[in-house]
Amino acid sequence: MQVTIDGPAGVGKTSVGRKVARRFSLLFIQSGQLYRALAYGRINDLDLESLSLRSRGKTEPELSIGGEKVREELTTEVIGEKASKLAKEEGIRNLVNEIIVDFAGDRDVLVEGRDIGTEVLTEAEVKIYLTASAEERARRRKKQMKTDRTLEEIEAGIKKRDNRDQTRKLAPLEPAEDAIIIDTTSLSEREVVERVSGIITDHEIREK
Ligand code: C5P
Repeated sequence: MQVTIDGPAGVGKTSVGRKVARRFSLLFIQSGQLYRALAYGRINDLDLESLSLRSRGKTEPELSIGGEKVREELTTEVIGEKASKLAKEEGIRNLVNEIIVDFAGDRDVLVEGRDIGTEVLTEAEVKIYLTASAEERARRRKKQMKTDRTLEEIEAGIKKRDNRDQTRKLAPLEPAEDAIIIDTTSLSEREVVERVSGIITDHEIREK
């Protein structure tokens, strides 16, 4: 089974996606990490074509670039900014999409990102689009990040990234026509996990 979760920055795709993936034994892929790894590669002058996603059995696949495994080094704001700029380039998007499509193959996956349901796994059985107000997403980010930045500064950053993601020519951020949209502004993470899980379970029941 293929499940996609798309939506803007800070909406909770990763935390929700990881829990739902575990519950349904799906391999969890964060497509943003591939853009971040390419940003890291560009900054460190690595060969971008060497980006690879490798299965480690039942847990999350491992990402490497230039022969280096990357994970923690991708979480900085600088890398996030650079990734969002790089994500406008056609060659970069094609590279990421190809890796995800190849990896997904006939595996059971849950892939989160911005354009997974619209451009990458267009035949996915379940497509979810999460949204929340920019103010609420800034609040969640601040809680998660241990940062000195004010809420207003974080919200401004989120809006800037939303704008870049929504207005770019290639694969702009928008729900797929067949996506189920969940506004999470006033929902807890647990409630979102339950809703998404309910949608997947309903789908499984219908398919039986
Ligand atoms: O989700 P994350 O913040 O890690 O993604 C980093 C950047 O990569 C995003 O700001 C977005 O511009 C880009 N991205 C994208 N398409 C995706 C996933 C991420 O353009 N499917």
